[in-house]
Amino acid sequence: MSDKEGIEVSEAEIAAHWQEEEYFYPPAEFIAQANQTDQAVFDRFRLGNFPECFKEYADLLTWDKYWHTTLDTSNAPSWRWFVGGRINACYNCVDRHLPNHRNKAAIIWVPEPEEEADVALTYQELYVRVNELAALLQDFAGLKAGDRVTLHLPMVPELPITMLACARLGVIHSEVFGGFSGKSCGERIADSGSRILITMDGYHRAGDLLDHKVKSDEAVQVAGNEGQVVDKVLVWRRYPGQYVSKSKMVKGRDFFVDELLPNYLGARIEPVSMPAEAPLFLMYTSGTTGKPKGCQHNTGGYLAYVAGTSKYVQDIHPEDVYWCMADIGWITGHSYIVYGPLSLAATSVMYEGVPTYPDAGRTWRIAERLGVNIFHTAPTTIRMLRKAGPDEPGKYQFQFKHMTTVGEPIEPEVWRWYYHSVGKGKAVIVDTYWQTETGGFLCSTMPAIHPMKPGSAGPGMPGIHPIIYDEDGSVIERGSGKAGNICIQNPWPGGFETIWGDRKRYVSTYYEKYCRNPESKDWRDWPYFTGDAAIQADDGYYRILGRVDDVINVAGHRLGTKELESACLLVPEVAEAAVVPMADDIKGRVPDAYISLKPEYKPSKKIQEAVVAAIETEIGKIARPKRVHIVPDMPKTRSGKIMRRVLAAISDARDIGDVTTLANPEVVEQIRQMVQGDNTETLK
Ligand code: WT7
Repeated sequence: MSDKEGIEVSEAEIAAHWQEEEYFYPPAEFIAQANQTDQAVFDRFRLGNFPECFKEYADLLTWDKYWHTTLDTSNAPSWRWFVGGRINACYNCVDRHLPNHRNKAAIIWVPEPEEEADVALTYQELYVRVNELAALLQDFAGLKAGDRVTLHLPMVPELPITMLACARLGVIHSEVFGGFSGKSCGERIADSGSRILITMDGYHRAGDLLDHKVKSDEAVQVAGNEGQVVDKVLVWRRYPGQYVSKSKMVKGRDFFVDELLPNYLGARIEPVSMPAEAPLFLMYTSGTTGKPKGCQHNTGGYLAYVAGTSKYVQDIHPEDVYWCMADIGWITGHSYIVYGPLSLAATSVMYEGVPTYPDAGRTWRIAERLGVNIFHTAPTTIRMLRKAGPDEPGKYQFQFKHMTTVGEPIEPEVWRWYYHSVGKGKAVIVDTYWQTETGGFLCSTMPAIHPMKPGSAGPGMPGIHPIIYDEDGSVIERGSGKAGNICIQNPWPGGFETIWGDRKRYVSTYYEKYCRNPESKDWRDWPYFTGDAAIQADDGYYRILGRVDDVINVAGHRLGTKELESACLLVPEVAEAAVVPMADDIKGRVPDAYISLKPEYKPSKKIQEAVVAAIETEIGKIARPKRVHIVPDMPKTRSGKIMRRVLAAISDARDIGDVTTLANPEVVEQIRQMVQGDNTETLK
């Protein structure tokens, strides 16, 4: 393997030495009510039945016009599903549930301040609010099918309402995670070509009412610098009628949504019947180069896949109270708070704030009060909840039947706490492995069919056929004890079609490595490269070991090291920067930054702080580095490449390995002493 992949080689080595974990079996009560108990599903979804098997998922939806071609490969490797079909995603998530579920809660929103009342929106209320907003977006903002609109909204009900209103019109939404900076938002506005930005004045987080609208001013400016004019900024208010931001409203550009909406009271907008392959939304994610990639997810395939997996893997029935504690600003929230659950007429719970605010019992109080029975979160949150109050779950009267972990590998010990303490030994757990690009799950156990194994995601989903290749494209067999690159042999309906505006990058990032013939229109020639290392045990379960590229998974979300390094380089004193992942108790991984200075500068706390500030401004607080080390020089190969693997080993106090072939081996020991001798302060 190349230098770049060195980090993961050692991880794989460590992981391969992990002991096999014992199985846990799904409880009989769970199996008795499960949506999928039939082992034959794997036979129906075998490769020999591909792609027609996915009709089963598409038939969960209501189509305006049925499709004629299940999978169109003519533009390989951009796959188009259910071609010829017409469908509206909003209709499928809202309108079609009215006859049977009009008065049932679609969304229950829990504000962070505990004294504020929950907001329960019935399907009827959701229908009304989505229609009125769709009318506003169409008539006031001039949006029409195919336009892109950027949303920079926190966890408030206005976010799914806005997404669904866009979907109703065939407008492509691009939601930017609320915690991202104005700059990040501006770049995504420019990349997607949005002329409308929808934001909010403020929201609650960890006890503060954050000013969010300020970010829009920077976003509009950054987009403008890149040539994208934002005509209108639509501002929802956290408290209608009351403005909580200190940012000025720009006349003729900024408008309060709550002031405009009364003009559309009672308005109804026909859902626009979209081709199945029309884009539904963009979701940006980090990659190895600096620029985030706008993953384009299409309407029919995506919705079919998230409906199918929500039903059979999340085991959602209309009568369940389902709570996914992700942020809708990430793909998990799109697929498994909004589109999947609502397409099944579920009750989907949303929470505005921090799971441990104001105390370690908050999450469990919410679960108890709302009668949540399906719970979905990430290892980073599980670790945080466990640390804050390992015995808290036992103090509250809730009982989950089903729990999910997603976003990063979960340590078996943490898994067991989740199972025993949160699930009280009575809930089934699914460890779902997937990505922003994949729209929905790739690997997981089927909750009523397979036993669970702590730390392992499980086998491929029905219709998903993973394969592990070594660097040369030879297959690594199951049970061989060897790790390699996990790929997917076949397309599936949830997969993205392309990177918005950059098809070349789409092909090179995800398909070039193992493509058998670049001219081919046969899907068999195009295995999908996930960028993850994995190992497959004898029983067929995959254990995901982490990224093989320069991407750091922080708290279950990807950050590109290049993005972080470019931010460091904005500080004038910095000559070179390398950012590496470092193990962290709660977040799994956090960025650890190494910088060297231009000769005329001396190390100072001010420079370290400037680097942190640059990263927060460029990307957002989520990317804040654990430490900033000012080193005399970077360890480099003779060809001048920075050895991030060496730095990562130093950050984690792991074995550094042989560095004698480096251009400057002596600097490694110097850096090691600096870092591990702890001359650098941890930034608080
Ligand atoms: C990367 C994707 C999946 C939605 C949230 C994150 C890692 C994801 C698991 C899991 C081990 C996992 C992979 C993947 N990952 N789920 N269950 N076990 N690793 O989406 O930001 O696109 O990140 O997260 O490395 O490539 P994302």
